[in-house]
Amino acid sequence: MAAIRFLLNGQWCSEDSVPPTMTVLDYLRTVRRLTGTKEGCAEGDCGACTIMVGRREEGRLRYDAVNSCLMLVPQLEATAVVTVEGLTAPDGALHPVQHALLEADATQCGFCTPGFAMAMAAFQHGGEPARDELIHEALAGNLCRCTGYRPIVDACRGVAGGALDHLAERARADAAGLAGLSPIAEYRQGEQCFYFPHTLPELARLVKQHPEAQLWAGGTDLGLVVAKERRWSPALIATSFVPELKRITVGPDWIEFGAAVTYSEALPYFDVSFPALGAVVRRLGSRQIRNLGTMAGNLATASPIGDTIPCLFALDAAVVVRSIAGARPRTMEKFITGYRRTSLAPGEFIESIRLPRLVQPQQFHAFKLSKRFDQDIAAVTAAFRIALADGVVQSLRAAFGGMGPTAKRATAVEEAIIGQPWTASTLAGIDQALARDFAPMDDHRGSAAYRLRAAANLLRRLQIETARPDLAGVAPLRLEAL
Ligand SMILES: Cc1cc2nc3c(=O)[nH]c(=O)nc-3n(C[C@H](O)[C@H](O)[C@H](O)COP(=O)(O)OP(=O)(O)OC[C@H]3O[C@@H](n4cnc5c(N)ncnc54)[C@H](O)[C@@H]3O)c2cc1C
Ligand code: FES
Ligand code: FES
Repeated sequence: MAAIRFLLNGQWCSEDSVPPTMTVLDYLRTVRRLTGTKEGCAEGDCGACTIMVGRREEGRLRYDAVNSCLMLVPQLEATAVVTVEGLTAPDGALHPVQHALLEADATQCGFCTPGFAMAMAAFQHGGEPARDELIHEALAGNLCRCTGYRPIVDACRGVAGGALDHLAERARADAAGLAGLSPIAEYRQGEQCFYFPHTLPELARLVKQHPEAQLWAGGTDLGLVVAKERRWSPALIATSFVPELKRITVGPDWIEFGAAVTYSEALPYFDVSFPALGAVVRRLGSRQIRNLGTMAGNLATASPIGDTIPCLFALDAAVVVRSIAGARPRTMEKFITGYRRTSLAPGEFIESIRLPRLVQPQQFHAFKLSKRFDQDIAAVTAAFRIALADGVVQSLRAAFGGMGPTAKRATAVEEAIIGQPWTASTLAGIDQALARDFAPMDDHRGSAAYRLRAAANLLRRLQIETARPDLAGVAPLRLEAL
């Protein structure tokens, strides 16, 4: 029977007896007795369980910080894992981030410290400069209840872009070690099976053969169901071993993101071609979540508060749906069919998401309103693709999330605005149009009245920012801080 093979702190592990649905956190703590990795929330929010997972990329190894509480052991196949126990050099010398935390008095009870150390080590290993926003981004997925963040941030600033340490050596050795692995097709334990298709036809065949199976991309939605609700399907099919699904294709008219491309991998492309989408995605979960999660997973979950879905509506994205019979693009309007429902039929899966490039004079803007800036689910998300000529709205695709059972386009709003002068007075009666498009509900994230008011104000913000581009980025911070 096939075993899951990976490197753990430089040592080979071959596991053939752990359940496929065991989380990596449980595995580390109970099977390997590596108890430095902590369980705080078990739902991806606190970062206490952060580890680094390295994968080979063009012959080199890149370590990413991830939440081990959301990952399943089979996801470790062909990876190199580093836990806090592996940060220390073989001669016992502390890693620079451990030194920095010590020197900055950045630990009190110490429960959060291993998670911070791992997030900081991944940040340092990535070679990022000591810019405040990057440090914030790297640490936003870790919570500390007692020390306070200033010394932790100081420690991180101290190691940013720092001297290469023994991890660089480990990365070279790990990359060489992983190079010789031959792929496995499945990992089976009793009734449970985790499949590892390595080609697109193989994936299509498995999806057809096992209509009850769940596709497993990053597992940041599914991992939560396993960790919290102890629910899983007997058959799980990984998408991340299929090279076509890891591809980003830049065409003249569109950019296509394979269904297993993570947010972190997609972000550099968003930043260049759709910066507003990049800004929204940077607030989706934490870096640990974005290192695992995918846009395809967000789309297939079809949550009314999925952050990327309004953006995909406004950008007129095409969802390329594949089955054993072939692949076909589907519009967002055809793809999302209801509350957490899509038009995917048994045997079908998302192969990629195609984003048409903006053409002059189109602009794309997107906003996320949540109670906290980081690590929070949106009360309202809005996305707009607008084209203006001589002060008049030529075209508009407006979409909102958090305003009803599904994220969707605001067609009454679009009708009320297209062809009109792009002035504040055009938006004077926009509340009525919004009320025709949406009947939001009250919940702990916001009342229906708040959501309608917020949506109208986001349209006003769009008008101000497009009329006065120098104000773009000024209003959001104030608004979100309220
Ligand atoms: C702590 C935390 C914070 C979060 N914050 C946010 C947030 O701020 N905003 C937000 O929108 N979401 C958030 N999420 C939810 C989640 O991270 C996203 O929805 C993410 O995009 C899911 O992607 P994934 O690859 O992890 O999906 P998975 O969990 O692997 O899969 C999700 C669903 O998609 C299906 N699926 C995956 N790939 C395919 C495919 N190729 N074809 C068909 N179906 C497929 C799966 O079968 C499953 O039903 C958060 C989650 C956590 C745990
Ligand atoms: S235990 Fe809190 S993020 Fe994993
Ligand atoms: S030091 Fe106690 S939680 Fe951070």
